[in-house]
Amino acid sequence: MTDRPKILVTQKVPDPAYPPLEAIGDVEANMEEGNIWPYEELLQRGPGHDYIYSLLTDNIDARFLEACAASTPSIKMVANMAVGFNNIDVETATRLRIAVSNTPGVLSDTTADLAFALLMATARRIPEAERFLRAGKYKGWGPLLFCGADVHGSTLGLIGAGRIGKLVARRSSGFDMKVLYYDVYRMQPEEEATYHMTYMPMEDVLGQSDFISVHTPYMPSTHHLISERELKMMKATAILINTARGPIVDEKALARALQSKTIAAAGLDVFENEPAVEPELLSMENVVLLPHIASASLKTRTLMATMASDNIVAHYKGERPPNIVNPEVLE
Ligand code: GLV
Repeated sequence: MTDRPKILVTQKVPDPAYPPLEAIGDVEANMEEGNIWPYEELLQRGPGHDYIYSLLTDNIDARFLEACAASTPSIKMVANMAVGFNNIDVETATRLRIAVSNTPGVLSDTTADLAFALLMATARRIPEAERFLRAGKYKGWGPLLFCGADVHGSTLGLIGAGRIGKLVARRSSGFDMKVLYYDVYRMQPEEEATYHMTYMPMEDVLGQSDFISVHTPYMPSTHHLISERELKMMKATAILINTARGPIVDEKALARALQSKTIAAAGLDVFENEPAVEPELLSMENVVLLPHIASASLKTRTLMATMASDNIVAHYKGERPPNIVNPEVLE
């Protein structure tokens, strides 16, 4: 590697991310907020960099990685500023001995906050009621005006009980909710007791919960984990919350289930083909739609941003990047 590595930052990120990178290398950065480089532009800009600081909007596929590996200098690492890294072909990266890192942990509480906010907003119809008021339709208090579903005392079903799922469970205890969960990994009994979470097969979690909140990573085994069959297992009054990844839920099947009242409502922060949203969902009042903001507090985004930089700096210094997801490339 040359003394000063070439580093590409693909989107504008919080300011504290840049100085550690500038201290070690020559940084080329997209500084235009909201400008997401289309794939072809990324493919043209990526090669010739030692390090790519990527966002979840970047499709870091085999073609891109191979082009970056064949260039001079060749790529050493992709540092993703996100906990999820399904936008990166890790298998190809590993084969090409390119390190990949993510930003786990620092966003778990902020994401759990948003999952709970979305659950409450959907149950109590807050965005719909606000739209009504702003449209000048509020003519006075009404016994039936915007009656929604109670959150307190209800049953929350978590599909996925990792770092974020557990923190959603913790928040729910203030609302006296009963928490059921399904995960491929069952917790130890002591941990289940700590979080007041009861393990059940997925069908039972789906069938017994008032709210279903999805917290699994996205990978081939979780593609359309919630589809027509699973939606039919839910209560007709159930509310589905997704702050994980869009394609875990079959969005067309969800739109059909909402239309036919198979389930009552949904709160979504993520979509199958972001930034596109299934058109039918856009016109439904019982759906709360957010533009993938679960980790969006300035404090958390700053922590994520510096964490991605720290991974690059560690790799450059010959240290183990603290959040490497394919450590076998270091062997
Ligand atoms: C956000 O979706 C993340 O994976 O960090």
